[in-house]
Amino acid sequence: MKILFVCLGNICRSPTAEVVFRAVASGEAPDIVLEIDSAGTAGYHVGEPPDRRTRQAAARRGYDLSALRARVVEPRDFENFDLILAMDRENLSALERRAPPHARDRLRLFLEFAPEVGITEVPDPYYGGPNGFEDVLDLIEEASRGLIEHLRRQTRAA
Ligand code: 4NP
Repeated sequence: MKILFVCLGNICRSPTAEVVFRAVASGEAPDIVLEIDSAGTAGYHVGEPPDRRTRQAAARRGYDLSALRARVVEPRDFENFDLILAMDRENLSALERRAPPHARDRLRLFLEFAPEVGITEVPDPYYGGPNGFEDVLDLIEEASRGLIEHLRRQTRAA
């Protein structure tokens, strides 16, 4: 199973999702073989490490984002990944515009896997205050657990 997380800049939300989901998966579902990556729909920060505020908030919960570098979504991502999970509707729309028709059913909102949080988008923390980064982590931890449950059900059904 190959999963790609997508936000705008690939320096706040999607790299957080990449690392948090990897940690949740290795803890709760070491039996499921996963390839996990992240990318942005915009290229403003290509080659940069995640935002310092994102790295610091993640580090306080034990997640290390320091090795990641931002990249943009590429055409081959639509062939390579089974599930492409957008952080918000704007990025989902950007993916829908770029995806070939046969790949559209791989595109989803990440928070579909956390219906209990009551919102459907991970808010962009870039121009907000420090609480935004904590909120992003809370939402991503919830959705990561939900996504693991979904994959478990799918594995059992197969
Ligand atoms: P991300 O956050 O999409 O979660 O990585 C942002 C990063 C950069 C910008 C906007 C959002 N920016 O405008 O540069």
